[in-house]
Amino acid sequence: MKTVGIAGGGQLGRMLADAAHRLGLRVVTLDPESRGPAGQVSDEQIEGDYKDATMIRALAGKSDVLTYEIESVNAEALQQLAVEGFPVHPTPRTLAIIKDKLRQKEFLKEHGIAVAPFCEPQDAESLGYPYVLKARSGGFDGRGNATVADVSALAEALGKIGNVPAYAEGFVRFDKELAVVAARTASGEIRLYPVVETIHKDHICDTVIAPAQVDKKIADKAEHLAHSVLASFEGAGVFAIEMFLSGDEVVVNEVAPRVHNSGHWTIEGAVTSQFEQHIRAITGMPLGDTAMAAPAAVMINILGERNGPAEPKGVEEAEKIPGVKVHIYGKMETRKQRKMGHITAVADTLDQAKGSALKARDIITI
Ligand SMILES: Nc1ncnc2c1ncn2[C@@H]1O[C@H](COP(=O)(O)OP(=O)(O)O)[C@@H](O)[C@H]1O
Ligand SMILES: [Mg+2]
Repeated sequence: MKTVGIAGGGQLGRMLADAAHRLGLRVVTLDPESRGPAGQVSDEQIEGDYKDATMIRALAGKSDVLTYEIESVNAEALQQLAVEGFPVHPTPRTLAIIKDKLRQKEFLKEHGIAVAPFCEPQDAESLGYPYVLKARSGGFDGRGNATVADVSALAEALGKIGNVPAYAEGFVRFDKELAVVAARTASGEIRLYPVVETIHKDHICDTVIAPAQVDKKIADKAEHLAHSVLASFEGAGVFAIEMFLSGDEVVVNEVAPRVHNSGHWTIEGAVTSQFEQHIRAITGMPLGDTAMAAPAAVMINILGERNGPAEPKGVEEAEKIPGVKVHIYGKMETRKQRKMGHITAVADTLDQAKGSALKARDIITI
């Protein structure tokens, strides 16, 4: 039986492992936390740091193919394995470009893909105020970002992101945020999921609406952009493309070389989930159908509201709501704003799906 090695052991790894198992594959994960979300459901876990080259090599030793669920994984170690002929997807070269947000933006611009204006921090004044200071690497859920309102706010903003190497980006007064999840096989076949709308609160993804409520012209633009992004980067697997919509202009915010929060709805809402799609892409299977399985799907994240041991409550009640599925990630500790689970509601109309998802969200505490 083939074994998939996953660097990183969070909820993305957990849902990838579930999909791999359904296809008859074995899963080994690498993560420092014993029995975390992915470790709980894997055939084997190596307890170790995915930033450590020795540990990455140990993971490869137990796997037929390697993938990763987090950008901060050691890209050089993966690259070394790839050079030796070991299959790693998406390619470590792609990962190395994407994990440095400034390099990623430069790459997108060089490939003719529309992005917001950006520059080195010392030239930030040219963007006008406010602008957004972003950590070049390691940021997630908005933690690497700070808005700079005027010249006096720069020092504080640098402090907020931890005085790490950063770049500056023009502040986009967007009407909506959109996202496209897409996949490519090693042979170059590309498939896109429908464009979705993502709603962030405090820079963290809160709600995803599928399909996005935008004109066909806008949806076409977003799909075209996503297609260009996938055609530019090498490597097999699922990618997510986050975008800003302002008026009828669409620009790329960022690209993730992995399964993504904006694609969780596909587990119930699409014929093939993004997790199965990724496993298919990296194991050389043909890609699955990305059509929606219901007219509308709404995903709402379950974020922690306190700090302490996790105690999921209300799951049984929430599951009684027609069309609602609850996913709890198995994290032992809850923390304010930590992603602890999510809810997806599918329905015949968007209003119904929204209503059901919100009702479920109200019932659940963790
Ligand atoms: N240039 C920008 N202008 C306005 N809002 C932004 C900008 N960049 C990011 N944001 C907001 O912050 C959120 C998180 O930023 P992002 O760069 O995607 O970081 P992360 O890697 O944490 O997801 C975005 O989804 C958006 O809501
Ligand atoms: Mg983002």
